[in-house]
Amino acid sequence: MMPLAALAPDSGLVGLLYIVAFSLFIIGIRFGTHPTTARRGNGIAAVGMAVAVITTLLLQGIGNWGLIFAGILIGSVIGVVASKRVQMTAMPQMVALYNGLGGGAIALIAWSEYRHWVHQGGELDKLQQVSDFIGGPQISAAVPLEVMIPSLFAMVVGSVSFWGSNVAFGKLQELIPSQPMKVPGQQVINALLLIGIVVGGVILSINNEYLDLSQPLFIAMLVAAAFLGTMVVLPIGGADMPVVISLLNAFTGLSAAAAGIALDNTALIVGGTLVGSSGTILTLEMATAMNRSVANILFAGFGSPATAGAGSQEERPHRSMTAQDAAIQLAYADSVVVVPGYGLAVAQAQHAVREMADELEKKGVSVSYAIHPVAGRMPGHMNVLLAEADVPYEQLKEMDEINPELPQTDVCVVIGANDVTNPAAKTDESSPIFGMPIIEVDEAQQVLVLKRSMSPGFAGIDNDLFYHPKTAMVFGDAKQTVSDIVSELGEL
Ligand code: TAP
Repeated sequence: MMPLAALAPDSGLVGLLYIVAFSLFIIGIRFGTHPTTARRGNGIAAVGMAVAVITTLLLQGIGNWGLIFAGILIGSVIGVVASKRVQMTAMPQMVALYNGLGGGAIALIAWSEYRHWVHQGGELDKLQQVSDFIGGPQISAAVPLEVMIPSLFAMVVGSVSFWGSNVAFGKLQELIPSQPMKVPGQQVINALLLIGIVVGGVILSINNEYLDLSQPLFIAMLVAAAFLGTMVVLPIGGADMPVVISLLNAFTGLSAAAAGIALDNTALIVGGTLVGSSGTILTLEMATAMNRSVANILFAGFGSPATAGAGSQEERPHRSMTAQDAAIQLAYADSVVVVPGYGLAVAQAQHAVREMADELEKKGVSVSYAIHPVAGRMPGHMNVLLAEADVPYEQLKEMDEINPELPQTDVCVVIGANDVTNPAAKTDESSPIFGMPIIEVDEAQQVLVLKRSMSPGFAGIDNDLFYHPKTAMVFGDAKQTVSDIVSELGEL
């Protein structure tokens, strides 16, 4: 009978299939850079992953088929059901969970690879005894350093990523408090854990014969990395989690690449490097869009009462109007710019917004949408929401493109957005968001702000825009308010 697994790992066919797989990953990422092609890009990358997985399964000497198929079946069922059910607003925590599982899997692979070498070393020890008995040669039982170092790296970084991602998931799902949680001496504890891990790694690498101590030391490093991952993420505020998840995603990629080196698997090396580099770029892009450094995000405890101090609840005069008045103002405008934010996602108002734009266009009003790079809670959040409602992509304008047009805009409708429109980012040096690029809504002729109350947004700070004489607040759930405006527009 033909063996099911028949390909030699170093055969040309395996190399070719892996090249096909990671070429598809790269093409998929390229397509992912534009909302109109992103879905296709995902599909292409998924085909690449299928090629990589099938090729690996066909390698000689693959393990227990029953276990492998059970794993694929259980994982696929959970993945498909969870992805179909998840709400758009819960997407960041889902990504955290998936990313954590990737990191955890890599840490376990590294451990299993290490155990494999230790077992082999044990066998060689027995051979050595026989060799000594008959006066034979010295047999080396050391783990090769090119396996040991990447295995240790993959184990440590994968474990940090797993535990850090779990904490991020817990914060976003509000299973644990989302405020920054600080323990006294936290930085010192983290530094000691890191030093302990590095020292453990050096001992294992130098003293590389099979000491009885080596496995317990390996496991101690795994546990220390788990504490490190947890302790690093706990003091970070819940709303910074998308950046943290992106960073941990980069870590998972790097640990996968290291595991690929240990296992001599090209697909894992290239795939891991792609995830590591794209995760790093995304993290830096998000930090830049908030005008914060990655160090500030990791260590400043943003979102704690101390950093959100500017969010005073003092009563200041502001103007409000009904949905009916807002509809009249919009109907008589020549140009309207919609500025969506996190509240649009919470209210699921994207379809109602599309209907509002259709009604306005019927009346000859030109409508476009201003997209801030960190509006919402994850990269591309607003693009995805608006695409879901079939908003024509040409109407979406990036911040740099729309800002010069705003002084000539008749009405800006801010829907569930707050921080990304706050003029304090331009004018108030003491503001935690000072320097963050914003959609300059305050430059438009008139501003309508649709939200439920005067409460602050993610940064926990008051927004001067709400008190500006040209601004009118339209209070209520965004979906309800926009639907009311659509009904009124229909009657005008
Ligand atoms: P936010 O500043 O968080 O403001 C959202 C506003 O939506 C709130 O003020 C809230 O006011 C309103 N809202 C909530 N539910 C609503 C509903 N059902 N109907 C109407 N309004 C509702 O959002 P933003 O302007 O999009 O800014 C995003 C923030 O997240 C930025 O500070 C950014 O730095 C941060 N952040 C973003 C990312 C990414 S990648 N996007 C990552 C990390 C951090 P009410 O409660 O009064 O309704």
